[in-house]
Amino acid sequence: MSATTKRIVILGAASAMAEAAARLWAAQGASLALVGRNAERLETIAADLRLRGAAVTVEPADCDTVDAAATLDALANRLGGIDVVLLAYGILGDQSRLESDPAATRALLHTNFVSAAGWCMAAADRFERQRSGALIVIGSVAGDRGRASNYVYGASKAGLAALVEGLAHRLAKAGARAALIKPGFVDTPMTAHIAKKGPLWAQPEALGRAIVRAAEKGGPVSYAPVYWRGIMAVIRNVPAPLFHRTNL
Ligand SMILES: NC(=O)c1ccc[n+]([C@@H]2O[C@H](COP(=O)([O-])OP(=O)(O)OC[C@H]3O[C@@H](n4cnc5c(N)ncnc54)[C@H](OP(=O)(O)O)[C@@H]3O)[C@@H](O)[C@H]2O)c1
Repeated sequence: MSATTKRIVILGAASAMAEAAARLWAAQGASLALVGRNAERLETIAADLRLRGAAVTVEPADCDTVDAAATLDALANRLGGIDVVLLAYGILGDQSRLESDPAATRALLHTNFVSAAGWCMAAADRFERQRSGALIVIGSVAGDRGRASNYVYGASKAGLAALVEGLAHRLAKAGARAALIKPGFVDTPMTAHIAKKGPLWAQPEALGRAIVRAAEKGGPVSYAPVYWRGIMAVIRNVPAPLFHRTNL
C-alpha cells in the first residue's frame, strides 16, 4: 500500500481473516472503518487495532440489509475518502439443511451473493468516479466446481467470482482495481466445527497477508495459499464419471 492509500472499509470486520489483515494495515498506520453486526466484538477489535497504530471507526450494521452506497458515503465522510474496500463477510450454511429449506437457501444466496454484489457495485461506482481504489473480495475455491457437499455456498461464491472479474475489467479503464481472493481451508470460526484439520489448512494470518498484498497489486483472481491454484486446476478437470464416484 502506498503512503496515500490507507483509508480502508472492512465489511464483516469480525471475520478472522479480515482481522488478520486489519492488524497488518494498523501497523502501517491506516485509517480503518469496521462494519459488522456485533458491535461489542467490533469495539474489542477496534481497541486492539488502535494500540497497533490505526485510526479506527466502528459502524455496527448488518451488511445483508443496510444501504451499501449510503453507508460508503457516510464512511467516506468520516475517513476523508476511501482507498480500499475489503468485503470479507459470508456464511457457510449447512448443505443438508439447505436442500430441505428453500428459505435458508435464499438467505445464504442473499448474504453471500445478492447483498455482496450490492456492496461491490457501490464500491466500484465510487472507485470509478475517483479513478482510483481497490475492491478486495473474499471468494472461495468452493466456487470453482460444484460439489455435492457444498454447492449452494459454492454457487454463491462462483457468482461473486464472475461479478468481481467483470468489475476488474470495468475498473481497469478508470485506473482502479477489483480483486477476488479464493481461500482454500482456513482455520477460522466458520470452520470451527470441522475437527480434523490436516496439512492443507491455513491460518487466518496467511490470509491476512494475502489480502494486504492483493490491496497493493496483483491480478483480478488469486488463490490463497497459492497451492490451491494447482489443486483446483486438477479438481476442475476430473471427468464427471470419475468425479461422481467421490464424496467431495
Ligand atoms: N474459513 C474458510 O475455510 C473459508 C474458505 C474459503 C472462503 N472463506 C470465506 O472467507 C470469508 C471470511 O470468513 P472467515 O473464514 O474469516 O470466517 P469468520 O471468522 O466466521 O467470519 C465470517 C464473518 O462474516 C460475518 N457476517 C456474516 N453475515 C454477516 C452480515 N449479514 N453482516 C455483517 N457481517 C456478517 C460474521 O459476523 P458475525 O460475527 O456477526 O456472525 C463473521 O464475522 C467469508 O466470506 C468466507 O465465506 C472462508
